[in-house]
Amino acid sequence: MAFLQIRQLCKYYNQQSTKAVNEFTLDIEEGEIISLLGPSGCGKTTTLRMIAGFEQPSAGSMIKNDQVIYDENTNVAPEKRSVGMVFQDFALFPHLTIEKNITFGLTKMSRQARKDRALEMLQLIGLENYAKSFPHELSGGQQQRIALARALAPKPDIVLLDEPFSNLDSSMKDQMRKDVAYMLREQKTTAIFVTHDQKDAFAISDRVIVMNQGAIQQVDHPKVMYKRPCNQFVASFVGKTNLINGIMTDDESGVMTSFGNVQLLHSSNTSPKQEVKLSIRPESCQINQQGQYSGIVSEVYYAGEYQEVRVCLNCTPEACLQGEKEEMLIRVSIEHDIELNQPISFDIMPDLIAVVNE
Ligand SMILES: Nc1ncnc2c1ncn2[C@@H]1O[C@H](COP(=O)(O)OP(=O)(O)OP(=O)(O)O)[C@@H](O)[C@H]1O
Ligand SMILES: [Mg+2]
Repeated sequence: MAFLQIRQLCKYYNQQSTKAVNEFTLDIEEGEIISLLGPSGCGKTTTLRMIAGFEQPSAGSMIKNDQVIYDENTNVAPEKRSVGMVFQDFALFPHLTIEKNITFGLTKMSRQARKDRALEMLQLIGLENYAKSFPHELSGGQQQRIALARALAPKPDIVLLDEPFSNLDSSMKDQMRKDVAYMLREQKTTAIFVTHDQKDAFAISDRVIVMNQGAIQQVDHPKVMYKRPCNQFVASFVGKTNLINGIMTDDESGVMTSFGNVQLLHSSNTSPKQEVKLSIRPESCQINQQGQYSGIVSEVYYAGEYQEVRVCLNCTPEACLQGEKEEMLIRVSIEHDIELNQPISFDIMPDLIAVVNE
């Protein structure tokens, strides 16, 4: 039996016609790190708050460690759920020292045990010299680590983190991702992470859950999610992609598009001659003078370590004028000099091509 079982969890606020969370069902194993990823308003925080017990579900059930924590007859209080929460704004107590912030939830321990636990947590996050400091004396990243240490100090069964990196600059974010993943794994904590940043989700988690409009779209290992998005929403939300219309070939080995046949590596649940939509990642297109596909460069965007090039495929001036052009965004390494309106040829590596549902 999974450590945390969530079944058909729903939430509607104020009798709204649309559900903030709609039939959310998921099994989480002990020690697993899960990310909820999705656009603003898709129901991530609401889901987290229902697991923590801060928000009452409208329907559904949750079982943790073989014990019902919520169903139509049961609603275990937040403080009895053994769930720690880290909020977006850290929410440290400004008038308490770092040590007192960390030991705040350790009410049942002796004074010495509390002190020892605080030191242990501070050593884990490399801030053992800050026990007597106050939160305002620490940087944002340091405060964030304290907030996590505080949540982990009582050894909760599960820790929930709501957008923990959103207040940090991008270089600090990279370090924090590593630190947080290390802390969670070191403590073997089951964790659910909320983010709308794909990089956070991918770097830190065993499985990613993509949500949209209150509903789970896909649950998968980060690499699988990237390579095999199940629908157009996931394909576009998780990284950049080209969504291309085509028709499945008779032997289902490829898809005929307006610019030629695209070979498939993986089988899909489709039938011959069916109209399909392909997701083709920009980095799966590789420039090659003798490449199978060709077009005219219509846009070049220099992104630092690579350049993004928009290619107008099989472009004729007449087709362009009639708005019939098909475009492909491709990723090109910076040693290539790419000019606007130059002809360009490329191949598509099949590994990052997926047939996606609407
Ligand atoms: N207390 C509330 N009362 C009424 N509606 C709410 C309440 N909290 C959230 N909602 C609505 O529920 C939906 C989901 O909100 P939620 O905060 O869970 O989204 P989110 O995925 O966490 O978004 P964000 O990335 O912006 O934090 C939204 O439409 C929101 O307006
Ligand atoms: Mg939120």
